[in-house]
Amino acid sequence: MTTISVALGARSYDVRIEPGLLARAGEVLAPLSRGRPMPIVTDTNLAAHCETLVASLAAAGVSAPVLTLPAGESTKSWAQLEALTDWLLAQGVVRSDHVIALGGGVIGDLVGFATSILKRGCNFVQIPTTLLAQVDSSVGGKTAINSKAGKNLIGAFHQPAVVLIDPQVLDTLPQRELRAGYAEVAKYGLIDDAGFFAWCEGNAAALFAGDPQARAHAIGHSVAAKARIVAADERETTGTRALLNLGHTFGHALEAETGFSDKLLHGEAVAAGMALAFAFSAEQGLCPAEDAARVAAHLRAVGLPDGLAAAGVTADGATLVGHMLHDKKMEGSTLPFLLARAIGRTYLDKTVDLEKVAAFLDGQTA
Ligand code: GLY
Repeated sequence: MTTISVALGARSYDVRIEPGLLARAGEVLAPLSRGRPMPIVTDTNLAAHCETLVASLAAAGVSAPVLTLPAGESTKSWAQLEALTDWLLAQGVVRSDHVIALGGGVIGDLVGFATSILKRGCNFVQIPTTLLAQVDSSVGGKTAINSKAGKNLIGAFHQPAVVLIDPQVLDTLPQRELRAGYAEVAKYGLIDDAGFFAWCEGNAAALFAGDPQARAHAIGHSVAAKARIVAADERETTGTRALLNLGHTFGHALEAETGFSDKLLHGEAVAAGMALAFAFSAEQGLCPAEDAARVAAHLRAVGLPDGLAAAGVTADGATLVGHMLHDKKMEGSTLPFLLARAIGRTYLDKTVDLEKVAAFLDGQTA
Protein backbone atom coordinates (compact mmCIF):
# COMPACT_ATOMS: atom_id res chain seq x y z
CA MET A 1 0.00 0.00 0.00
CA THR A 2 1.32 3.44 -0.91
CA THR A 3 0.22 6.14 1.50
CA ILE A 4 0.55 9.81 0.63
CA SER A 5 -0.23 12.42 3.24
CA VAL A 6 -1.95 15.68 2.39
CA ALA A 7 -0.40 17.93 5.04
CA LEU A 8 -3.00 20.49 6.06
CA GLY A 9 -2.58 20.78 9.82
CA ALA A 10 -5.79 19.74 11.58
CA ARG A 11 -7.33 18.90 8.20
CA SER A 12 -4.50 16.54 7.15
CA TYR A 13 -5.43 13.17 5.68
CA ASP A 14 -4.00 10.17 3.90
CA VAL A 15 -4.48 9.01 0.34
CA ARG A 16 -4.05 5.23 0.24
CA ILE A 17 -3.30 3.57 -3.07
CA GLU A 18 -3.34 -0.21 -3.56
CA PRO A 19 -4.65 -2.62 -6.19
CA GLY A 20 -7.64 -4.49 -4.70
CA LEU A 21 -8.19 -1.87 -2.00
CA LEU A 22 -11.93 -1.60 -2.70
CA ALA A 23 -12.45 -5.17 -1.51
CA ARG A 24 -10.45 -4.38 1.64
CA ALA A 25 -12.02 -0.98 2.29
CA GLY A 26 -13.99 -2.35 5.25
CA GLU A 27 -10.92 -3.10 7.36
CA VAL A 28 -9.44 0.33 6.54
CA LEU A 29 -12.67 2.25 7.24
CA ALA A 30 -14.03 0.29 10.24
CA PRO A 31 -11.96 2.31 12.78
CA LEU A 32 -13.50 5.53 11.40
CA SER A 33 -17.05 4.20 11.75
CA ARG A 34 -16.87 3.74 15.56
CA GLY A 35 -19.88 1.43 15.37
CA ARG A 36 -21.96 3.85 13.31
CA PRO A 37 -23.27 3.20 9.77
CA MET A 38 -21.30 4.64 6.85
CA PRO A 39 -23.76 5.76 4.16
CA ILE A 40 -22.52 5.26 0.58
CA VAL A 41 -23.45 7.57 -2.28
CA THR A 42 -22.77 6.24 -5.76
CA ASP A 43 -24.15 6.29 -9.31
CA THR A 44 -26.07 3.95 -11.56
CA ASN A 45 -22.92 2.80 -13.45
CA LEU A 46 -21.18 1.50 -10.34
CA ALA A 47 -23.45 -1.27 -9.01
CA ALA A 48 -20.71 -3.93 -9.07
CA HIS A 49 -18.13 -1.76 -7.27
CA CYS A 50 -20.78 -0.75 -4.75
CA GLU A 51 -21.60 -4.39 -4.03
CA THR A 52 -17.90 -5.08 -3.39
CA LEU A 53 -17.70 -2.11 -1.02
CA VAL A 54 -20.88 -2.98 0.90
CA ALA A 55 -19.70 -6.58 1.32
CA SER A 56 -16.29 -5.43 2.54
CA LEU A 57 -17.85 -3.06 5.08
CA ALA A 58 -20.31 -5.74 6.23
CA ALA A 59 -17.43 -8.19 6.78
CA ALA A 60 -15.82 -5.56 9.00
CA GLY A 61 -19.10 -5.11 10.93
CA VAL A 62 -20.06 -1.76 9.35
CA SER A 63 -23.55 -1.26 7.94
CA ALA A 64 -23.77 0.89 4.82
CA PRO A 65 -27.07 2.16 3.42
CA VAL A 66 -26.71 3.10 -0.26
CA LEU A 67 -28.09 6.00 -2.29
CA THR A 68 -27.67 5.53 -6.05
CA LEU A 69 -27.90 8.71 -8.11
CA PRO A 70 -28.12 9.09 -11.90
CA ALA A 71 -24.70 8.94 -13.60
CA GLY A 72 -23.64 12.13 -15.39
CA GLU A 73 -22.80 15.79 -14.92
CA SER A 74 -26.47 16.81 -14.47
CA THR A 75 -26.35 15.16 -11.04
CA LYS A 76 -24.21 18.08 -9.78
CA SER A 77 -27.41 20.10 -9.32
CA TRP A 78 -29.43 21.84 -6.62
CA ALA A 79 -32.13 19.18 -7.07
CA GLN A 80 -29.76 16.27 -6.40
CA LEU A 81 -28.08 18.19 -3.56
CA GLU A 82 -31.49 18.52 -1.93
CA ALA A 83 -32.32 14.84 -2.52
CA LEU A 84 -28.95 13.81 -1.10
CA THR A 85 -29.09 15.99 2.02
CA ASP A 86 -32.70 14.87 2.68
CA TRP A 87 -31.57 11.25 2.41
CA LEU A 88 -28.57 11.78 4.71
CA LEU A 89 -30.81 13.45 7.30
CA ALA A 90 -33.27 10.58 7.02
CA GLN A 91 -30.35 8.21 7.76
CA GLY A 92 -29.79 10.14 11.00
CA VAL A 93 -26.27 11.24 10.02
CA VAL A 94 -24.48 13.20 12.75
CA ARG A 95 -21.44 15.46 12.44
CA SER A 96 -18.91 12.85 13.50
CA ASP A 97 -20.20 10.32 10.93
CA HIS A 98 -18.44 9.54 7.65
CA VAL A 99 -20.30 9.50 4.34
CA ILE A 100 -18.62 7.59 1.50
CA ALA A 101 -18.47 9.02 -2.03
CA LEU A 102 -17.98 6.07 -4.40
CA GLY A 103 -17.67 7.38 -7.94
CA GLY A 104 -16.02 9.82 -10.29
CA GLY A 105 -15.74 13.58 -10.03
CA VAL A 106 -19.50 14.15 -10.11
CA ILE A 107 -20.24 12.00 -7.06
CA GLY A 108 -17.11 13.23 -5.23
CA ASP A 109 -17.94 16.89 -5.82
CA LEU A 110 -21.60 16.50 -4.87
CA VAL A 111 -21.01 14.43 -1.72
CA GLY A 112 -18.14 16.68 -0.69
CA PHE A 113 -20.34 19.75 -0.95
CA ALA A 114 -23.35 18.09 0.74
CA THR A 115 -21.20 17.00 3.69
CA SER A 116 -19.66 20.48 3.95
CA ILE A 117 -23.10 21.91 4.75
CA LEU A 118 -24.90 18.99 6.41
CA LYS A 119 -25.23 19.84 10.11
CA ARG A 120 -22.63 22.59 9.40
CA GLY A 121 -20.15 20.00 8.23
CA CYS A 122 -19.67 16.25 8.63
CA ASN A 123 -16.96 13.88 7.43
CA PHE A 124 -16.64 12.18 4.10
CA VAL A 125 -14.47 9.58 2.44
CA GLN A 126 -13.49 9.62 -1.22
CA ILE A 127 -13.30 6.33 -3.14
CA PRO A 128 -12.67 7.58 -6.69
CA THR A 129 -13.49 5.21 -9.54
CA THR A 130 -12.21 7.16 -12.59
CA LEU A 131 -8.63 8.05 -13.42
CA LEU A 132 -9.52 11.74 -13.43
CA ALA A 133 -11.00 11.52 -9.94
CA GLN A 134 -8.09 9.39 -8.67
CA VAL A 135 -5.37 11.79 -9.82
CA ASP A 136 -7.17 15.10 -9.42
CA SER A 137 -10.67 15.74 -8.11
CA SER A 138 -10.74 13.38 -5.08
CA VAL A 139 -7.68 15.06 -3.54
CA GLY A 140 -7.58 18.65 -2.37
CA GLY A 141 -11.08 19.36 -1.08
CA LYS A 142 -12.63 21.30 -3.96
CA THR A 143 -16.34 20.46 -3.90
CA ALA A 144 -19.19 21.98 -5.89
CA ILE A 145 -22.38 21.73 -7.85
CA ASN A 146 -23.20 23.54 -11.11
CA SER A 147 -25.62 26.43 -11.47
CA LYS A 148 -27.39 28.01 -14.44
CA ALA A 149 -24.54 30.53 -14.59
CA GLY A 150 -21.84 27.87 -15.00
CA LYS A 151 -20.01 24.81 -13.75
CA ASN A 152 -18.72 24.49 -10.15
CA LEU A 153 -19.95 27.95 -9.16
CA ILE A 154 -21.63 26.84 -5.90
CA GLY A 155 -19.25 25.01 -3.62
CA ALA A 156 -16.86 24.89 -0.72
CA PHE A 157 -13.40 23.74 0.25
CA HIS A 158 -14.06 20.63 2.32
CA GLN A 159 -11.29 18.08 2.78
CA PRO A 160 -12.09 14.35 2.95
CA ALA A 161 -11.10 12.27 6.00
CA VAL A 162 -9.29 9.75 3.80
CA VAL A 163 -9.05 8.88 0.09
CA LEU A 164 -8.93 5.21 -0.96
CA ILE A 165 -7.65 4.56 -4.48
CA ASP A 166 -7.89 1.12 -6.05
CA PRO A 167 -6.19 1.23 -9.48
CA GLN A 168 -7.92 -2.06 -10.39
CA VAL A 169 -11.29 -0.32 -10.70
CA LEU A 170 -9.88 1.32 -13.84
CA ASP A 171 -9.99 -2.08 -15.57
CA THR A 172 -13.70 -1.54 -16.24
CA LEU A 173 -13.45 2.16 -17.14
CA PRO A 174 -14.18 2.96 -20.82
CA GLN A 175 -10.95 3.77 -22.73
CA ARG A 176 -12.22 7.23 -23.65
CA GLU A 177 -12.63 8.12 -19.96
CA LEU A 178 -9.24 6.63 -19.15
CA ARG A 179 -7.67 8.83 -21.83
CA ALA A 180 -9.52 11.91 -20.56
CA GLY A 181 -8.19 11.28 -17.05
CA TYR A 182 -4.71 10.72 -18.42
CA ALA A 183 -4.62 14.36 -19.56
CA GLU A 184 -4.46 15.31 -15.87
CA VAL A 185 -1.60 12.84 -15.31
CA ALA A 186 0.48 14.35 -18.12
CA LYS A 187 -0.41 17.77 -16.71
CA TYR A 188 1.69 17.17 -13.57
CA GLY A 189 4.74 16.60 -15.77
CA LEU A 190 4.09 19.70 -17.81
CA ILE A 191 3.59 21.90 -14.72
CA ASP A 192 6.89 21.38 -12.93
CA ASP A 193 8.31 17.92 -13.52
CA ALA A 194 9.95 17.41 -16.93
CA GLY A 195 11.28 14.04 -15.76
CA PHE A 196 7.74 12.80 -15.12
CA PHE A 197 6.62 14.03 -18.54
CA ALA A 198 9.44 11.99 -20.07
CA TRP A 199 8.23 8.99 -18.01
CA CYS A 200 4.73 9.57 -19.45
CA GLU A 201 6.12 9.57 -22.99
CA GLY A 202 7.85 6.27 -22.35
CA ASN A 203 5.13 4.52 -20.35
CA ALA A 204 1.72 5.77 -21.51
CA ALA A 205 1.29 2.80 -23.86
CA ALA A 206 1.81 0.36 -20.97
CA LEU A 207 -0.58 2.35 -18.79
CA PHE A 208 -3.31 2.20 -21.43
CA ALA A 209 -2.66 -1.51 -22.00
CA GLY A 210 -3.46 -2.09 -18.31
CA ASP A 211 0.05 -2.58 -16.89
CA PRO A 212 -0.59 -2.43 -13.10
CA GLN A 213 2.87 -1.03 -12.30
CA ALA A 214 2.56 1.78 -14.85
CA ARG A 215 -0.88 2.65 -13.51
CA ALA A 216 0.24 2.57 -9.88
CA HIS A 217 3.27 4.75 -10.68
CA ALA A 218 1.21 7.29 -12.66
CA ILE A 219 -1.41 7.54 -9.93
CA GLY A 220 1.07 7.66 -7.03
CA HIS A 221 3.23 10.28 -8.69
CA SER A 222 0.22 12.41 -9.64
CA VAL A 223 -1.32 12.24 -6.18
CA ALA A 224 2.01 13.11 -4.54
CA ALA A 225 2.29 16.15 -6.84
CA LYS A 226 -1.24 17.24 -6.08
CA ALA A 227 -0.76 16.72 -2.32
CA ARG A 228 2.36 18.91 -2.42
CA ILE A 229 0.61 21.70 -4.33
CA VAL A 230 -2.55 21.60 -2.18
CA ALA A 231 -0.48 21.62 1.04
CA ALA A 232 1.32 24.73 -0.24
CA ASP A 233 -1.84 26.62 -1.24
CA GLU A 234 -5.04 24.94 -0.02
CA ARG A 235 -7.44 27.70 -1.08
CA GLU A 236 -5.68 28.83 -4.27
CA THR A 237 -4.65 32.17 -2.84
CA THR A 238 -0.91 32.33 -3.57
CA GLY A 239 -0.93 31.18 -7.19
CA THR A 240 0.67 27.78 -6.51
CA ARG A 241 -2.58 25.79 -6.71
CA ALA A 242 -3.57 27.78 -9.79
CA LEU A 243 -0.81 25.86 -11.63
CA LEU A 244 -3.22 22.91 -11.57
CA ASN A 245 -5.37 24.88 -14.00
CA LEU A 246 -2.86 24.42 -16.83
CA GLY A 247 -4.86 24.05 -20.05
CA HIS A 248 -8.12 24.83 -18.29
CA THR A 249 -8.64 28.38 -19.64
CA PHE A 250 -8.25 27.37 -23.29
CA GLY A 251 -10.05 24.13 -22.41
CA HIS A 252 -12.96 26.00 -20.83
CA ALA A 253 -13.52 27.90 -24.10
CA LEU A 254 -13.59 24.61 -26.03
CA GLU A 255 -16.01 23.03 -23.54
CA ALA A 256 -18.28 26.08 -23.74
CA GLU A 257 -18.16 25.98 -27.55
CA THR A 258 -19.15 22.29 -27.54
CA GLY A 259 -21.91 22.90 -24.98
CA PHE A 260 -20.21 21.12 -22.04
CA SER A 261 -21.38 17.90 -23.65
CA ASP A 262 -20.10 14.42 -24.49
CA LYS A 263 -18.72 15.90 -27.71
CA LEU A 264 -15.69 16.91 -25.67
CA LEU A 265 -15.04 15.48 -22.21
CA HIS A 266 -13.42 17.75 -19.62
CA GLY A 267 -10.10 15.87 -19.76
CA GLU A 268 -10.12 16.04 -23.56
CA ALA A 269 -10.66 19.80 -23.39
CA VAL A 270 -7.80 20.07 -20.88
CA ALA A 271 -5.52 18.11 -23.25
CA ALA A 272 -6.30 20.39 -26.19
CA GLY A 273 -6.03 23.38 -23.83
CA MET A 274 -2.56 22.33 -22.65
CA ALA A 275 -1.40 21.94 -26.27
CA LEU A 276 -2.80 25.42 -27.02
CA ALA A 277 -1.16 26.95 -23.93
CA PHE A 278 2.22 25.59 -25.06
CA ALA A 279 1.65 26.60 -28.70
CA PHE A 280 0.65 30.12 -27.63
CA SER A 281 3.69 30.34 -25.33
CA ALA A 282 5.91 29.25 -28.24
CA GLU A 283 4.30 31.76 -30.59
CA GLN A 284 4.96 34.52 -28.05
CA GLY A 285 8.63 33.50 -27.90
CA LEU A 286 8.30 32.36 -24.27
CA CYS A 287 8.90 28.65 -24.82
CA PRO A 288 10.93 26.60 -27.35
CA ALA A 289 8.78 25.53 -30.33
CA GLU A 290 10.13 22.00 -29.97
CA ASP A 291 8.64 21.73 -26.45
CA ALA A 292 5.21 22.75 -27.76
CA ALA A 293 5.59 20.21 -30.59
CA ARG A 294 6.58 17.50 -28.08
CA VAL A 295 3.49 18.19 -25.95
CA ALA A 296 1.19 18.01 -28.98
CA ALA A 297 2.90 14.85 -30.25
CA HIS A 298 2.47 13.02 -26.94
CA LEU A 299 -1.19 13.95 -26.60
CA ARG A 300 -1.80 12.82 -30.20
CA ALA A 301 0.07 9.58 -29.54
CA VAL A 302 -2.32 8.62 -26.74
CA GLY A 303 -5.39 9.62 -28.75
CA LEU A 304 -6.09 12.93 -27.03
CA PRO A 305 -6.88 16.12 -28.97
CA ASP A 306 -3.82 18.31 -29.51
CA GLY A 307 -5.57 21.49 -30.62
CA LEU A 308 -8.72 23.05 -32.01
CA ALA A 309 -9.21 20.84 -35.06
CA ALA A 310 -8.69 17.60 -33.13
CA ALA A 311 -11.16 18.87 -30.51
CA GLY A 312 -13.70 19.41 -33.31
CA VAL A 313 -13.85 23.18 -32.76
CA THR A 314 -14.03 25.55 -35.73
CA ALA A 315 -15.06 28.77 -33.95
CA ASP A 316 -12.97 31.90 -34.50
CA GLY A 317 -10.68 33.46 -31.90
CA ALA A 318 -13.11 36.21 -30.86
CA THR A 319 -15.84 33.66 -30.12
CA LEU A 320 -13.50 31.49 -28.06
CA VAL A 321 -12.11 34.46 -26.13
CA GLY A 322 -15.75 35.48 -25.51
CA HIS A 323 -16.27 32.12 -23.78
CA MET A 324 -13.11 32.68 -21.71
CA LEU A 325 -14.59 35.91 -20.35
CA HIS A 326 -17.22 33.80 -18.58
CA ASP A 327 -14.56 31.61 -16.95
CA LYS A 328 -14.83 31.58 -13.17
CA LYS A 329 -11.10 32.30 -13.03
CA MET A 330 -11.71 35.86 -14.29
CA GLU A 331 -10.36 38.41 -11.79
CA GLY A 332 -12.29 41.60 -12.61
CA SER A 333 -11.39 42.30 -16.23
CA THR A 334 -8.19 40.18 -16.08
CA LEU A 335 -7.99 36.50 -16.99
CA PRO A 336 -4.96 34.72 -15.48
CA PHE A 337 -3.34 32.28 -17.95
CA LEU A 338 -0.99 29.39 -17.30
CA LEU A 339 1.84 29.76 -19.80
CA ALA A 340 5.07 27.83 -20.24
CA ARG A 341 8.78 28.60 -20.44
CA ALA A 342 9.46 24.93 -21.16
CA ILE A 343 8.07 21.47 -20.41
CA GLY A 344 8.04 21.36 -16.59
CA ARG A 345 8.21 25.14 -16.26
CA THR A 346 4.73 26.66 -16.34
CA TYR A 347 3.81 29.91 -14.65
CA LEU A 348 0.82 32.13 -14.00
CA ASP A 349 0.61 35.24 -16.17
CA LYS A 350 -2.02 37.87 -15.34
CA THR A 351 -1.00 40.24 -18.12
CA VAL A 352 -1.95 38.24 -21.21
CA ASP A 353 -3.46 40.39 -23.95
CA LEU A 354 -6.73 38.71 -24.98
CA GLU A 355 -6.47 40.21 -28.49
CA LYS A 356 -3.21 38.30 -28.92
CA VAL A 357 -4.96 35.14 -27.73
CA ALA A 358 -7.79 35.68 -30.25
CA ALA A 359 -5.29 36.28 -33.08
CA PHE A 360 -3.37 33.14 -32.07
CA LEU A 361 -6.57 31.06 -32.09
CA ASP A 362 -7.50 32.47 -35.53
CA GLY A 363 -4.11 31.29 -36.71
CA GLN A 364 -4.90 27.79 -35.40
CA THR A 365 -8.06 27.45 -37.47
CA ALA A 366 -6.73 29.18 -40.62
N1 GLY B 1 -8.53 20.53 -10.09
C1 GLY B 1 -7.80 21.68 -9.72
C2 GLY B 1 -7.62 21.81 -8.24
O1 GLY B 1 -7.95 20.89 -7.51
O2 GLY B 1 -7.17 22.83 -7.79
